[in-house]
Amino acid sequence: MKFETLAIHAGQEADPNNGAVMTPVYFTSTYLQDGVGRPRQGYEYSRTMNPTRKALQDCLAALEGGYYGLAFASGLAASDTVLRLLNADSHVLAGNDVYGGTFRLFDKVLRRFKLDFTFADTTDPESVAEALTPSTRLVWLETPTNPYLRITDIRAVAELVHSHANQPLLVVDNTFATPYLQRPLELGADIVIHSMTKYLGGHSDVVGGAVVVKDQDLAERLYFLQNAVGAVPGPMDCFLILRGIKTLPLRMDRHYENALAIIEFLEEHPKVQKLFYPFHESHPQYKIARHQMKNGGGMISFLIKGGGDAAIRMVEATKIFTLAESLGGVESLIEVPAAMTHLSVSGSQLEVDPALVRLSVGVENKDDLIEDLAQALDKA
Ligand SMILES: Cc1ncc(COP(=O)(O)O)c(C=O)c1O
Repeated sequence: MKFETLAIHAGQEADPNNGAVMTPVYFTSTYLQDGVGRPRQGYEYSRTMNPTRKALQDCLAALEGGYYGLAFASGLAASDTVLRLLNADSHVLAGNDVYGGTFRLFDKVLRRFKLDFTFADTTDPESVAEALTPSTRLVWLETPTNPYLRITDIRAVAELVHSHANQPLLVVDNTFATPYLQRPLELGADIVIHSMTKYLGGHSDVVGGAVVVKDQDLAERLYFLQNAVGAVPGPMDCFLILRGIKTLPLRMDRHYENALAIIEFLEEHPKVQKLFYPFHESHPQYKIARHQMKNGGGMISFLIKGGGDAAIRMVEATKIFTLAESLGGVESLIEVPAAMTHLSVSGSQLEVDPALVRLSVGVENKDDLIEDLAQALDKA
């Protein structure tokens, strides 16, 4: 089946008890056992597995072309569980433009558990090669990155990482692209993670995370950790994300169409100093982006002339673009990463320019969006 069909049907069959077409929300924490240790349908306890979560997990695995999918209570819960595959004294090499919360988890929490982190420019495979050490066990990429939309050549880094003696795991945070635009497992990654809060959910009404793997042994180790650590989502959250995923391809195409129109407007605007968009010819990894992504997605960042003050004036002046953190919903959002989503990287090597404005372009009418940006830029 093709992606659009999988998005609607994968993991979801009519309910065998009553024929309900949509996956029911199984509000239950526990399940009947016919005898001691003989659960009637294999389910014992909802931290371990819940039917609504199973439908979502199976759908995620199908969309990413993986063997097994796991759902978590948030993107960071997913990331944290993946990092628990490692033993103390392991080294992790991560991109130097990862989401601020990922950096905070690595730098402020997991370092205390004797994991060592290096943040390198993964857009340059040479820098990755130089930063690998004899104790590197995991390489963490985000592509496109949040907030600069930098692109890493997943296939090139996968080849490099897998030729390293330790065979480190290659993890790709696929939140910005979604499996509709980019399938990292097919490009050589071992693990894909998502904040499902963003495009997969798609309606800014739920927080969730996902992990998908292609290897059975890794799936079993992660399934063990998912249950042992317990950062699982509830059934209602799983239902909402399943419903969101059904329209993912439609939404992603519309996000892209609107983003292209906005790019055309911004590139001519005198107050815009520099644009960051993977499918714009000025992007340093434009060719790689076109090669590994189906389209450029709905995220745009740009530097505004006049510095941080101008950025703040602009984002406070929009009327349709909502000033808010997060991204990937049907509604357009605007923010200043340095003062909002990426505050936790301030003063670190991941520091973000205060003049950077980030747009999550929604699926509204593009003319309305452009008009809104125009009047806000006038006030910057
Ligand atoms: C690229 C990326 N990865 C991970 C996360 C963390 O996800 P969550 O907020 O669902 O914990 C985010 C959140 O903004 C993100 O943008």
